[in-house]
Amino acid sequence: MEKPIRILSVFGTRPEAIKMCPLVKELQEDSRFESRVCVTAQHREMLDQVLSVFGVKPDYDLNVMAPGQTLSGITTRILNGMEPVLREVRPDAVLVHGDTTTSFAVALAAFYQQIPVGHVEAGLRTYNRYSPFPEEMNRVLTGRLAAFHFAPTALNRDNLAREGITEHVYVTGNTVLDAFKTTVHPEYRFREPALAELGPERIILMTAHRRENLGEPLRAICRAVKRIAADFPDVQVMYPVHPNPAVKGTVKELLGGLPRIRLLPPLEVTDLHNLMAKCFLVLTDSGGLQEEGPSFRKPVLVMRTETERPEAVEAGGVRVVGVEEEGIYQAVSGLLNSPEEYASFLRNPNPYGDGNASRRILDALARENQF
Ligand code: UD1
Ligand code: UDP
Repeated sequence: MEKPIRILSVFGTRPEAIKMCPLVKELQEDSRFESRVCVTAQHREMLDQVLSVFGVKPDYDLNVMAPGQTLSGITTRILNGMEPVLREVRPDAVLVHGDTTTSFAVALAAFYQQIPVGHVEAGLRTYNRYSPFPEEMNRVLTGRLAAFHFAPTALNRDNLAREGITEHVYVTGNTVLDAFKTTVHPEYRFREPALAELGPERIILMTAHRRENLGEPLRAICRAVKRIAADFPDVQVMYPVHPNPAVKGTVKELLGGLPRIRLLPPLEVTDLHNLMAKCFLVLTDSGGLQEEGPSFRKPVLVMRTETERPEAVEAGGVRVVGVEEEGIYQAVSGLLNSPEEYASFLRNPNPYGDGNASRRILDALARENQF
């Protein structure tokens, strides 16, 4: 039998973990591969929540998270931490995901040892280097460093082609849909006590954490949501708050203790996905929720000025509503008031794949066979 291909999967934040764990599970079960996992733990608690849901036990843990961490702090700790791990594992290829500082720093560390990098969720672009920040540059640089590119959609493939990246590019779908096989159950019972007995209210599932929204944009977001909760007595806002002190502080100050607004700790991904299945609409600045909402056929309002995920916007399921108080208030109240407008969001299915992205990525890796 041929020697298995040794793959080192490396990730560090919650969204990377949610989208990489299904791939790691497939790698572990496929005899063509030998799988190793390293986490940077750029996130600590939120990463561990995901690892426990998927039952993934890392072989290496760089444990880099620090309170108030800076971008250069994360980058240098990861570069230094990855060097001995790569020397010890000597993988045939390293897999990274998406656009976090973990993705970029790990790709650079692997490049320094001339180890090929496979970039999962490749080719997303806004073409604005400061929005989202620093994610747009992280994914451009990761794409430049990578040897193999796993693009969720044809549009992502075309973005790469525009940068001259035309070889070793595969359109695979997004692995977040693979994750639903583990996380979504029709008879699901919530772990978070506040979700155990949901009332008849229309649930707005809300998240907000982006670096470029910290400060005044986040305050405007909070003011808009406060007005919505005040004006619509049949609405319940469920807001799992990101643990970043710069997020938590503002949100608690502006939304804490208000009727019809429930501030929650970060939810286990099983709770989050099953709550999404029950909600009325999603209000977010997250990347991942823009892909998940259309899968559950829920309208998604994106509190940003632009998105790297225009596919669902074009399909009608997602709308970019900006970060001004009035614009957000109008968009949410429009959906709450108009069944026709609500129905218009639900016409087309999810453009992000069929739940078999991991399998396609493994088959592509095996086909490359040039390690
Ligand atoms: C990071 C990613 C962003 C991604 C987001 C997903 C970068 C630069 N940013 O942003 O692309 O969208 O994750 O959530 O890679 N914290 C905890 N516990 C945790 C996680 C975070 O306490 O489990 C706190 C820490 O104080 C930490 C702060 O949050 O310093 C910020 O974390 P960081 O990873 O730097 O930025 P995010 O905004 O989470
Ligand atoms: N998520 C979660 N618990 C929460 C909030 C989000 O499990 O309390 C999941 C969500 O379903 C999605 C991912 O985390 O899969 C999105 O992560 P985040 O918003 O932190 O990052 P982004 O997608 O913006 O990079």
